[in-house]
Amino acid sequence: MKIRVLALPLAVLAACTTGQPRTAAVAPAPPPPAAAPLVAAHAMVVSAHPEASKVGVAILQKGGNAYDAAIAVQFALAVVLPVAGNIGGGGFLVYRGHDGTAGTLDFRETAPAAATRDMYLDPAGNVVPGLSTAGALAVGTPGTVAGMVALHEKLGRLPWADLVAPAVRLARGYALTEREAAGLNRTRDEFLKHNPGNPSAYVRPGGTWRPGDTLRLPELASTLIRVRDEKRAGFYQGETARYLLAEMRRRGGLITQQDLDRYQPKWRAPLRGQYRGYDVITMPPPSSGGVALLQMLQMLAPVDVRALGYHSPAATHLITEAERRAYADRATYLGDPDFGRVPVAQLLAPAYNQQRANTIRPDGRATPSAQVTAGPGLPGYESNETTHYNVVDAVGNAVSCTTTLNGAYGSKVVVPGAGFLLNNEMDDFSVKAGVPNAYGLVGGAANAVGPGKRMLSSMTPAILTRGGRLALVVGSPGGSTIITSVLQTIVGIVDYGLDPQQAVAAPRLHHQWLPDYIDVEAGALAPAAQDTLRARGYALHPRAPWGRIEAIEVLPNGQLSGGADPRGDDKAVGY
Ligand code: DON
Repeated sequence: MKIRVLALPLAVLAACTTGQPRTAAVAPAPPPPAAAPLVAAHAMVVSAHPEASKVGVAILQKGGNAYDAAIAVQFALAVVLPVAGNIGGGGFLVYRGHDGTAGTLDFRETAPAAATRDMYLDPAGNVVPGLSTAGALAVGTPGTVAGMVALHEKLGRLPWADLVAPAVRLARGYALTEREAAGLNRTRDEFLKHNPGNPSAYVRPGGTWRPGDTLRLPELASTLIRVRDEKRAGFYQGETARYLLAEMRRRGGLITQQDLDRYQPKWRAPLRGQYRGYDVITMPPPSSGGVALLQMLQMLAPVDVRALGYHSPAATHLITEAERRAYADRATYLGDPDFGRVPVAQLLAPAYNQQRANTIRPDGRATPSAQVTAGPGLPGYESNETTHYNVVDAVGNAVSCTTTLNGAYGSKVVVPGAGFLLNNEMDDFSVKAGVPNAYGLVGGAANAVGPGKRMLSSMTPAILTRGGRLALVVGSPGGSTIITSVLQTIVGIVDYGLDPQQAVAAPRLHHQWLPDYIDVEAGALAPAAQDTLRARGYALHPRAPWGRIEAIEVLPNGQLSGGADPRGDDKAVGY
C-alpha cells in the first residue's frame, strides 16, 4: 500500500490551532519521561507480569528462540496473571523472523457449533443482560493451547515440555502482587456466584488476599502437566476435556467434544502498511485492529503530526477524526473472514482512506458521529483485562502477541477439576445489531453469532520495520481502546520521538465513533486544549487509565529499548 500526500495539508490544520504557536516544532511538548526504558544488548521480553517476563528471558538464555519464549510466557501468564493470561481463552500473534519472513497466528476462540445468532436474546428479541458476558454461555471454544502447539511445531526450537514446565512450577505457588490480590478480592463475589458449590482456588477461604500471599493452583498445575506431556490432547481430549465438558453440561454451556476436536488455530497472511518510512506488519481479520490501525495511519500520513504539537487541539482533532472513521467502518464491515466477505482491500485502499480523510473538517471542528454513519448513543465502559507480550531474541526474531479471556477473569467460571478460567469471548460478537457490547462497540451481520465462527476482535499486535530491519514491537490490551493505544504509541515514537517507556506511559486519548466523545485520561489534555476542543464540538469524557502497552524499540546501535506500562505490574527484562 502506497501512501500519498493527500488533502488536509499541514497549513490547514495548523491554521486551526487557535492559541497554539503555528510554527513551533513541538508545541505543546510531550510529557517528560517518568522512568528510563530498559536497554538491553541482546534480547528482551516485556509482559504484564515480572515472573512471566523472567520466564521468557530464562528460555532465551537456555537457547530458546523468540517463539519458544513466547510459548513459555503465554503459559506463565496463565498462572500469574489470572485476570487475563490464559489457557481457556485465545489470542493473536504476529511474528517476524530475523530473515524477514513474517506471519500471524490466529488462536482466537470460536463459537460452539450449537451457537445461534439470537442466542443472547429473549423471546421478545431483547438482549438478556449478562448472558454473553458471564457464566457458561459466554464461553467460546478456547484456542490458546492449540495455538501454542501450532507455534511450537512451526517455529519452536526447544522441547515443548521445557516451555510449559515454568508454568507448572509457578502454579504450585507464587506470591500475589498487590494489584492481583486486589483484583481477586474485587471479583470474589462473582467467583462464588459463577462457581456454585466449588469455590475455586481464586477465592481465599474465609478472607481476602493480601499482597505477598502465596496463591496455589494445584488443579491448574495438573492440567498444565497434561498439556506438557500430551500437548494438544492434554487439553482438548482426555481428563481436561472431560472436566470442561462436565462443567458445560452442569451449567448449560454449549461446548462439546466435537467443538474441541474441530478447533483449529489459523496461520494468516499479515496485513502490511507503511507509515513515514516504516513498514507495519499487523493482524488481519478476525481482528479489526490491523485494518483500523492501517486506515488511521493512512489518514495521518499526509500531515506533519509532530508540528501540530503533542496532544494539541489540532493533533487531537486529526487523530480523533481518523479514529471515528475507522471505528465506523469496523462496526459495519468487519467480522470473521471465513464466514463472510470482509472488504479488507477496499478498506485499505489509499483512495478510500483519502476520501475518508477529506471529510475531516479543516476548521478543526468535530464531525458528529451521527453524520459519519448513523448509530445509537452508547454507554461508556472501562476494563483493561487482556494482556500483551513482546519478545525479541538475540538473532532478531520478534513476537508480538495479545491474548485474552475478554473480560477480567473471563466468564469467571473456573473449570472444576481442571482449575483454569474460561473466557467470555462470545460477547465480542454483535449479539444484536446495533446493541453495544461490553466495550461499547456496535456491529451487525458481519459480526453476528454463528456456529464455528470467530468473534471480531480489537487486538492489534504489531511489528514495525525500517529499511528491512526490525524497528518496533508493540501491542496492548484494553478492548476497543487497543487500536488507539497502539496508534498513539506508534505516533508517539515515530512522530514525536518519544522513547518506548515515555510512549507507553504517556496519558492517552480514545475515540471509537460511538459513543461520540473523546475518552481523556488525567493529564492527557491541557486545560486550554480541553476548552478549545469543547468549543469545536468535541465532548470530553474523563476516564480512568486504560490499556497496558508493551513496546520494544530497536535502537540505531542495535540495542533493545523496552517500555512496560506503568499502569500495571508490567515489566521489561532483558540481557
Ligand atoms: O478481542 C478483543 O477485542 C477483546 N476481547 C479484548 C478484551 C480486552 O482487551 C480486555 N481489556 N483489557
